[in-house]
Amino acid sequence: MTDQRKAAKWQGIAPRVVTDFLIIHCAMLVAFAISVSYQTHGQAWPSADDLADAFRRYYLSWFLILSPVFPLVFYMNGFYTYVRPLAAKEKLKKFTLVVMLSLAVFISANFLVVQQANPVGRSVALTFGLFALLGLVGVRVGKELLLGDERADQKDRSKAASQGPVLVIGGAGYVGCWLIRRLLEEGKSVRVLDNAVYGLDPIRDLLQNPRVEYLNGDCRNIQDVVKAVRGVSSIVHLAAIVGDPACEIDHKTTIEINYAATRMIVEVAKGYGVERFLFASSCSVYGATDEIMDEDSKVEPVSLYGQLKVAAEQALLEAASDDFHPVLLRFATVFGLSNRPRFDLVVNLLSAKAWQDGVITIYNGEQWRPFVHVKDLSEAIILLLSAPLRAVSQQTFNVGDNSLNHTLTEVGEVIRRVFPGTRIEGVENADKRNYRVNFDKIQKRLGFRCRYHLEDGVREIKAAFDSSAIDNYKNIRFSNLGFLRQSGTPANKSEFDAEIMAVFGGEHIRRAAAPYAKSATTAG
Ligand SMILES: NC(=O)c1ccc[n+]([C@@H]2O[C@H](COP(=O)([O-])OP(=O)(O)OC[C@H]3O[C@@H](n4cnc5c(N)ncnc54)[C@H](O)[C@@H]3O)[C@@H](O)[C@H]2O)c1
Repeated sequence: MTDQRKAAKWQGIAPRVVTDFLIIHCAMLVAFAISVSYQTHGQAWPSADDLADAFRRYYLSWFLILSPVFPLVFYMNGFYTYVRPLAAKEKLKKFTLVVMLSLAVFISANFLVVQQANPVGRSVALTFGLFALLGLVGVRVGKELLLGDERADQKDRSKAASQGPVLVIGGAGYVGCWLIRRLLEEGKSVRVLDNAVYGLDPIRDLLQNPRVEYLNGDCRNIQDVVKAVRGVSSIVHLAAIVGDPACEIDHKTTIEINYAATRMIVEVAKGYGVERFLFASSCSVYGATDEIMDEDSKVEPVSLYGQLKVAAEQALLEAASDDFHPVLLRFATVFGLSNRPRFDLVVNLLSAKAWQDGVITIYNGEQWRPFVHVKDLSEAIILLLSAPLRAVSQQTFNVGDNSLNHTLTEVGEVIRRVFPGTRIEGVENADKRNYRVNFDKIQKRLGFRCRYHLEDGVREIKAAFDSSAIDNYKNIRFSNLGFLRQSGTPANKSEFDAEIMAVFGGEHIRRAAAPYAKSATTAG
């Protein structure tokens, strides 16, 4: 978390902690006042003076020390961080339980540490407990009643929003075209924003479906984005120039699509009150390392593609608020068949080569990569779309499975099992990407496990070639790099879009200006 976000978080929490602290101290004073009037009833005032003196000693030597127990127990139970997204009734129930827990902790500690010599602390403890409970819960009930109308409005809006379609940006791509099919099977309506860089074939059969709305548009064009975002329940943002080599073709366009557009979409999403925003990041943010990387590991991307994923992740976290909940998904390298097969991904490419050429080249065989089947990836996205917001908001999840970390040599062995007789050539080169990834978080928090192994994906590809569903893996429509090299990267719709992208792309776009001039010529 950045310092700015930490400061903002504590600015939100501090007034609530102080209010709770004041309520607790007021409850103690009221409890004492009642205790005095009860104990001195019909007696002379000196007895009240003695009690007040004993109370002062108790208050200064014990109560001040014990009272932070309350905010501490509240904090540990997520009061100041997690309960906000809960419904009012749930929130009050949880709050009452935690207040009772904190009172139990306080009263036990009080009875244990306060000596018989000072009976005041013991006699007022139970009365205090009652008033603290009334005060702490009462303030929450009052707040809920006061804010009731506003909340009802919000509820209406979010109810309307939750009934809206899921927006999949980049839905005509390798991952998106399968995800849409699964969303439809789940009974959802889907809106797709895609400028069909690689054509519309992957989703053409879905366009007549009444629950699919396709907008042919560019995620860098604010009008297209506004049209796409209006009225949706949540967003899955997949659109990008994908892959390290494809991103090298034209730095400026890559920065616009992979970073600047993401920032712009986020602002539009916030403007329309879309709460859940799933962002497709990549495990390649971890770069070259021998460690096993989890979500808290240092990111050290070794390519522009990875760097922009990191920059977009940061921008999303900075944009998070009580009403905007980004979720960052770091996908492992995808394999398997979808309606837009990609043969520029290692498992798919090697399988296709084994079928078509009978020989595969393994570069730097000892390097590790995490893999995930495109169908499992869609299941993970569906799980994250329906998970409670508080469980996923502002969270990063590596998406894959511990059992699917493989060396490239192992990949070659799996391929040879499916295509016996394949010749394997080993070559060492300068590609430094090496990462093994830990996927415990998504498994433990959401119960996600992959169902498909490498061999399942390789067999699928074999079946597609055997049945002539795919004839030549070298066709450039199966490769982002090959396609963009030949046809050029997609141009902005207007100069105005380029200006908007320059605003959102900031420093990244300015730094790319020089390489862009060079690569724009090559991309031709
Ligand atoms: N495939 C992988 O191995 C992998 C691994 C890690 C992360 N990811 C991420 O998952 C996401 C999807 O990857 P994929 O494999 O489906 O890629 P893909 O290239 O098949 O699909 C990208 C889609 O985005 C669309 N698109 C590109 N520029 C656009 C623009 N300006 N406006 C609107 N649409 C645009 C394309 O037309 C395409 O349909 C990407 O963000 C990628 O970085 C993929």
